Amino acid sequence: MTIQIAPSILSADFCNLEKDLNEIKTADLVHIDVMDYHFVPNLTIGEPVVKRICQVTKMPTDVHLMIEDPDRWAPHYAQMGATSVTFHMGATHAPVRLARELHSMGCKACFAVRPAEPVEPIFDILSEFDMILVMTVEPGFGGQKFLDNQLGKVRRLRDEIDRQHLSTHIEVDGGVSPQTAPLVAKAGADVLVAGSAVYGASDRAQAIADIRSAAQKAYQG
Ligand code: DX5
Ligand code: ZN
Repeated sequence: MTIQIAPSILSADFCNLEKDLNEIKTADLVHIDVMDYHFVPNLTIGEPVVKRICQVTKMPTDVHLMIEDPDRWAPHYAQMGATSVTFHMGATHAPVRLARELHSMGCKACFAVRPAEPVEPIFDILSEFDMILVMTVEPGFGGQKFLDNQLGKVRRLRDEIDRQHLSTHIEVDGGVSPQTAPLVAKAGADVLVAGSAVYGASDRAQAIADIRSAAQKAYQG
């Protein structure tokens, strides 16, 4: 399986977004964090900004909704051209219905679990999703320390996806760097979100390459 790198623009310069988007062209996806001050204690960007990003960038857009009532709002992001929309276990009332609605709009559906949320309850509905996001920090802020106690969850999820012969991707988000990338890749994650490790570096392309090669080596090794 191929490792994909998804820089999070949460750590980009919101006054120079177009420039900062142009600096991550060697990545595979652009990760866009939408927060609402309710589901998480932070507020970021919403529909008007995400809509412009979807229009301007040629990269696939990976919209991560950390908001309440995604059953209501997620389809808006599909409508504006998001490649995939991620919604949280703790916020969604009808995840299967929402995944099917997004698919009917030509958008990929991804289900996210926070560090204290188990992944086993979704084993019977795994095939409904294109990707499962395992948070490796408490959602809300960039620059937090990677939680290595989530690696077992990634491993159990990889085993179950393989057991069911699915092609569901496993995304990890939070504290991913060239140091932690080998750990998540070895555990079975194949889509790596990195905010501060990419945008905190002066050479963003180099940071992306470093995370990718560290992960790829561990995945193969
Ligand atoms: C946190 C966000 C992340 C964040 C990751 O709630 O979902 O996408 O940008 O930032 P780093 O890579 O700095 O932990
Ligand atoms: Zn995120």
